[in-house]
Amino acid sequence: MFDFSASRHKLVLCIILISKYSAAFEKHWLPDLEWQTANNWMDGQIPEIDNRVIFPQQTRHAVGIAGIDNLRLSGIDLPSQGLLVLPRNGKLQLSNWRADPKVSKWSKEGNFFWADPANWNGSSIAAPHLERVPCRQDDVVLPSVNRTLSVLLPVREVEVRSIRLSNEKLPFFEDEWMDFQDRREFSTRGRFTVKYTELQHAYLTTQECRKCFCQGNYLSDYLEEICAIQRPRCGFTDCEYPLTVEGHCCPYCGGRVSTTDQISLAMVQTAADEALDGYTEKIAWHTRRSWNGGVEVLVKEKGDYSGIVIQEAVENLREMLQKTRIHVTNAETAGAAMKDSRLAVILGPLLGTPLVAIALFLLAFLYFGYSLEHVLSGCMEAVSSVRDGIRTDKQKHGFARFENVPEGNVRIADVPGTSGREADDDDVVKGITQVAAGRFENPLYRSKRESEIRKILDAPLSLATLKSHMDDQLENKKMDTEE
Ligand SMILES: *[C@@H]1O[C@H](CO)[C@@H](O)[C@H](O)[C@H]1NC(C)=O
Ligand SMILES: *[C@@H]1O[C@H](CO)[C@@H](O)[C@H](O)[C@H]1NC(C)=O
Repeated sequence: MFDFSASRHKLVLCIILISKYSAAFEKHWLPDLEWQTANNWMDGQIPEIDNRVIFPQQTRHAVGIAGIDNLRLSGIDLPSQGLLVLPRNGKLQLSNWRADPKVSKWSKEGNFFWADPANWNGSSIAAPHLERVPCRQDDVVLPSVNRTLSVLLPVREVEVRSIRLSNEKLPFFEDEWMDFQDRREFSTRGRFTVKYTELQHAYLTTQECRKCFCQGNYLSDYLEEICAIQRPRCGFTDCEYPLTVEGHCCPYCGGRVSTTDQISLAMVQTAADEALDGYTEKIAWHTRRSWNGGVEVLVKEKGDYSGIVIQEAVENLREMLQKTRIHVTNAETAGAAMKDSRLAVILGPLLGTPLVAIALFLLAFLYFGYSLEHVLSGCMEAVSSVRDGIRTDKQKHGFARFENVPEGNVRIADVPGTSGREADDDDVVKGITQVAAGRFENPLYRSKRESEIRKILDAPLSLATLKSHMDDQLENKKMDTEE
């Protein structure tokens, strides 16, 4: 006998479940690079008028000066790589009149990687790292049009279902997105690697797409890119028998219930939501298709791992799945919780050994009749040659940019008297520089003598110094004959 009504009931339920589930995740890009965000400054304060602003040498991202009409600083120490995004009609004045300006330091350093799970929200903490960055069935939300964006795209090609700005309702069309490939917001390492998912994949529900993984099948190098960022943050493993989870870069302290491949992701998801309903305060869970085609539910505690809650949740989940006639092949937890008592044991040798070794060396040298001064100056030389070695290595990354995105319209020119301060002294007038977001006139780009510029860019540099140096060069050598 065929029980028609029951099966129709089930079908309707399935369709509801699938449509709920395939309302895929939205993942938002999180980094905030605005000048006006207090947290972006070392001391937690936005720079005030006539402060001196210092960017780290390796800033490598764009900093957005928006929403400030008239910014006056006594100096800016530019990074050797990075961008300063000026407002379209804004004005930035530099005056080096103040002897002892208050210093504001930019607190962020380095690139912001697409492949960094910390730069995205919208996924459960139970999800493996690979699935916390956008998957091919996810919709990506980038910050609104008036915010500064600076993303280093992955090396390997990845797919997402759509991309929109947070102030827009509709995503970009695919060719609109591809037009962004030359924009400075996106740094690439040769290729524009974020693509829209192929149409036939985009419209497959997870039900039909039994082997649709987060990012295609050949993702080991992409996973490695993610893990290179994530692994140093793993920290102490606070469980006895950590699980190995696909796509996760650290040992996993939590639980897992696995089922066979005959089942739809949506059904397992619903059963899990029901079984774990009472635990939302304490645990997070994530349902995923594993690389062999099965479905698994991962559970993780929201605070530190205690073991007990996970044990209970995994047990509930297993019972619920079995009640729903879903065959559970494996249910496991990471065992008892572990206290971080080994910290001293680990740190002891790390701190101790080199110090002891250095002390022994010093004693040995002293014993053989070197004076302490000799030995120490030898050490300093070694250290500084190591540092020089590193520095020449880094130089190939290029030199300072001071640009107005999108067209690099920056003029560095003397505008005496505009600061509104009376000038009793010629030098003071000369020291006032105005950088207006207007015509293009950037001596860094006009010069062919890169090596000379590099020389002065070796040290942290203030714009005023740069300007006077460039003036001298342009005057004396008349090397610029392009215009
Ligand atoms: C992710 O971040 C965005 C912007 O910060 C926020 O509007 C959104 O609610 C967040 N989503 C989740 C699921 O936390
Ligand atoms: C950006 O635009 C949104 C609305 O379009 C507005 O609410 C917000 O204040 C703007 N932010 C800045 C920094 O201009």
